Amino acid sequence: MSIETNNHQPYYVTTPIYYVNDRPHIGHCYTTLIADVAARAQRLVGREVFFLTGTDEHAEKVSQKAIENGKTPYEWATINAEQFKAAFEFMGFSNDDFVRTTEDRHKQRASAYIKKLMDQGDIELGDYEGWYDPSQEEYLTETVAKENDYKSPVTGRELEKRVEQNYFFRLDKYEGWLREQIESGAIRILPEARKNETLGRLKQGLMKVPVSRKIKEGDPDWGITMPGDPEHRIYVWIEALCNYLTTVDTDERRAFWNGEVVHLMAKDILWFHAVIWPAMLHAMGEKVPETIYAHAYWISEGTKMSKSLGNFIEIDQLRAYADRYSLDAVRWFLTTQGPLGANDADFAHARFVEVFNADLANSIGNSMSRVGNMINKYFDGEITRTCDGKFGFEGGKALQLAIKALDDAGKSPDDPSRTFNFDPMTSKAVDDALEALSRMDLESMLAAGRSIVRYVDDFISYSAPFTLAKRVGELEHAEKALATILYSCAEALRIASLLLSPAMPQKMAQLWRDWNCNHLRDPNDAESGFVAPLAELARWTGEHSLRVGQQVSKGDVMFMRADANEPAPGTDPQPESV
Ligand code: MSP
Repeated sequence: MSIETNNHQPYYVTTPIYYVNDRPHIGHCYTTLIADVAARAQRLVGREVFFLTGTDEHAEKVSQKAIENGKTPYEWATINAEQFKAAFEFMGFSNDDFVRTTEDRHKQRASAYIKKLMDQGDIELGDYEGWYDPSQEEYLTETVAKENDYKSPVTGRELEKRVEQNYFFRLDKYEGWLREQIESGAIRILPEARKNETLGRLKQGLMKVPVSRKIKEGDPDWGITMPGDPEHRIYVWIEALCNYLTTVDTDERRAFWNGEVVHLMAKDILWFHAVIWPAMLHAMGEKVPETIYAHAYWISEGTKMSKSLGNFIEIDQLRAYADRYSLDAVRWFLTTQGPLGANDADFAHARFVEVFNADLANSIGNSMSRVGNMINKYFDGEITRTCDGKFGFEGGKALQLAIKALDDAGKSPDDPSRTFNFDPMTSKAVDDALEALSRMDLESMLAAGRSIVRYVDDFISYSAPFTLAKRVGELEHAEKALATILYSCAEALRIASLLLSPAMPQKMAQLWRDWNCNHLRDPNDAESGFVAPLAELARWTGEHSLRVGQQVSKGDVMFMRADANEPAPGTDPQPESV
């Protein structure tokens, strides 16, 4: 694949809508972060992007908690929804909307979808007896209930045997269709292990699924009633899934549903997204999502996070990390070390410091400030030469002179015939990043950016521009060669910074300000959008490259090396009150 042939359809990425009862924690922040990184990367590519997150508010638990707290359910939901909004703003998420399921726009359309399914016979009334998991608000099949010893597979709580008259969605009708869609990849379930798991579970057969709950006496007025039957309420899961469509079911936004749709979540709620939701959509005559991506879990210092252990890494702790190490460092750590694949990931302080130092302080930040510093030291911060031969000097020739300076100093490199081809190297890194992005492999996308940084570091160690600098004025053309070498480094780092920017938008925008790169519409606003698509921005010595005469200032240290012995932030002992 090459930059030019990349997909240019509108891109629609979603996160689960989170239960409004929980306090925002690392899990919510993680899924929303990877959606943010993907959304930013797709905007950089030049695609129209819509990124949606929000809160799921009609659960029974919300009304119970509201009563305990002396509030109406809506007041309680609002207080908590605001906490999610604040947390996501703090994390720098660029979501285009935040949906609350208590909003009219959602309620009206969700209700209309259910009515359509009722009218056409896909939803019907019937008796239901089954094993209900109150902690997850879902019914389980007899097989699954038995396998889990009649306890919730998620929380371990006792299942309840419930008999209800309910409306049912005829999921059973769509078994063959679903298998075909998933096997063929028309609905792409990622990672691969999750696809196999879903197909395995499909083999056990599909039942009709309840889509309503009978309203009991004394129940608070909470949720959406079934169209035409006010004694029943739409089951909260079914209603919640509809958010992905209700929010974009408008004239201006429909193109996003018709474009590429990517639903992100953790493995806990894959079944709803990979099976129930596509079947509902298909029954409604709607297009189904292209990608269902279910990552694994964050655990904390080696232990599963749970309410009973009280060991959730909450937003305040992430804030404390961001205060000490910068928000972009937190975003980097979570994105590159998170449970994107099939395995869980551990949030351990020692690991955070290790990754911070290795990737950011010693590599990306160091390389960028080192090159900026050399351009300042040797050329007063001015780009004086490119490396395409246009100004009379080529990269190859520059390297020969650097080696001559090393030879003269008795420090010849082991392999004097090594070559460095920055143009093909950087464009391959960009292609690799795009290919990884199309698979939602954000770690590999960022690794492609880092590979350029490593190449630059290697080139600096090999060509030793500081040795060459000592010969300026004495060795013929030494100055031109030095300028050319530094240009190659800076231009390569500029391209790397574009690929790294989806994870670290603030730090990279700072670099572009320091180096006077016009990548953003407003250089002072990292959120102002790019002036051109990546294919143009990332072209080696292209229209957006560093230019002769451009000023590159030193700027502040991007990431200060972290002390591994300092205790984790947010865990400092509180001063005793006097
Ligand atoms: N309200 C439903 C989703 C409805 S979507 C139509 C729900 N909400 S939730 O608040 O429980 O959020 C679950 C999601 O939070 C997971 O799928 C995942 O995205 C995120 N995470 C919660 N805990 C997590 C970890 N420990 N690790 C990673 N992500 C996790 O389910």
